[in-house]
Amino acid sequence: MYRIASIGGDGIGPEIILEGKKVLDAAGERFDFDIRWTDFDIGAERYLKTGQLLTETDLKELSTFPAIYFGAIGDERVKPGILEKGILLSLRFFFDQYVNLRPIRLLKGVATPLAGKQPQDIDFVVVRENTEDFYVGIGSRFKKQQKIELLIKRELYHAKFNLDVESDAEELAYQIGVVTREGARRVIDYSFTLAQSRKKKLTSVDKANVLSDIYGLWRDVFLDRAALHPEVTTEFTFVDAITMWFVKNPEWFDVVVTPNMFGDIITDLGAMIQGGLGLAPGGNINPTGTSMFEPIHGSAPKYKGLGVANPMATIWAGSMLLDHLGEHEAAGAIVTAIEKCILSGVVTKDMGGHSGTMGVGDEMVKIIQET
Ligand code: IPM
Ligand code: MN
Repeated sequence: MYRIASIGGDGIGPEIILEGKKVLDAAGERFDFDIRWTDFDIGAERYLKTGQLLTETDLKELSTFPAIYFGAIGDERVKPGILEKGILLSLRFFFDQYVNLRPIRLLKGVATPLAGKQPQDIDFVVVRENTEDFYVGIGSRFKKQQKIELLIKRELYHAKFNLDVESDAEELAYQIGVVTREGARRVIDYSFTLAQSRKKKLTSVDKANVLSDIYGLWRDVFLDRAALHPEVTTEFTFVDAITMWFVKNPEWFDVVVTPNMFGDIITDLGAMIQGGLGLAPGGNINPTGTSMFEPIHGSAPKYKGLGVANPMATIWAGSMLLDHLGEHEAAGAIVTAIEKCILSGVVTKDMGGHSGTMGVGDEMVKIIQET
């Protein structure tokens, strides 16, 4: 028996989580385990009513679960950034989910925009560091007459643009990225272990040619840890270059480890080459704590309640959740069911089909029962 927390969230979140739970329950029945779900009412609706994003009680209760199944957050009535930072990023940080695992895999029957590429050519995993880098939230915006402007602004702006210190035009903002040796080490070690269980190739992403302090440290740690894993082939790529290679030669990659911000960007590219955001799952993992599994797409408020949203990314994220709990057979059966569902044409409109959200979930349950 597993106790799992679920947060449907906003927009299409609740509908797709409902299908996901249905499929995971079916897998449980088929493979002999039970899931006891506890739903949490976290999201825009509650925030608009009560002003609460995440309460201490939420966090205390959530911390008693090994995993959270998360739909999506984002609502047009709330200013961008509030829910994202106050809920999603806060959960990732609070539970120290330092691994953001994003499989980039072209399933059978799925169309990729990359000409001539087959499922065997697109099958790698991006391990995105999930707690550091430009996501640490250290930054500020300054207008004139604020003290610090005298320190930073004069130096930067005066010399460069010869602007008037008293003028509004001199508003300045900065954001600081942070990499720690330990923060890099733990996610890089996770990636080496993962690479060992796959094709034993690990690619590190950075921009050490320009941001040489922050990513210089990342590189040093990568080199240190690589020395302990001589059986794994390693390479460095710059983030700009890897966007080219993802498109041109995705078959080169096995496991890719990246700092947080670059990981955010390159996994949206990854999602497209595996068939779109409707097919891109992610796991936020703390190997010894509470982990969280979610589709990487957003809440698509436009489609809320219409029953047309594609639940496949969420269902795949559910498979990752089961894999994380050690239910490998059930996890594999779910991915196979997604493939079968696609091959039999039971897909939503975004994938060129006519099925609804629930239709896809029902079909998947049927396939798993027949497995
Ligand atoms: C993602 C999302 C989030 C991120 C946003 C919604 C905060 O884009 O999961 O990739 O930037 O990590
Ligand atoms: Mn993103």
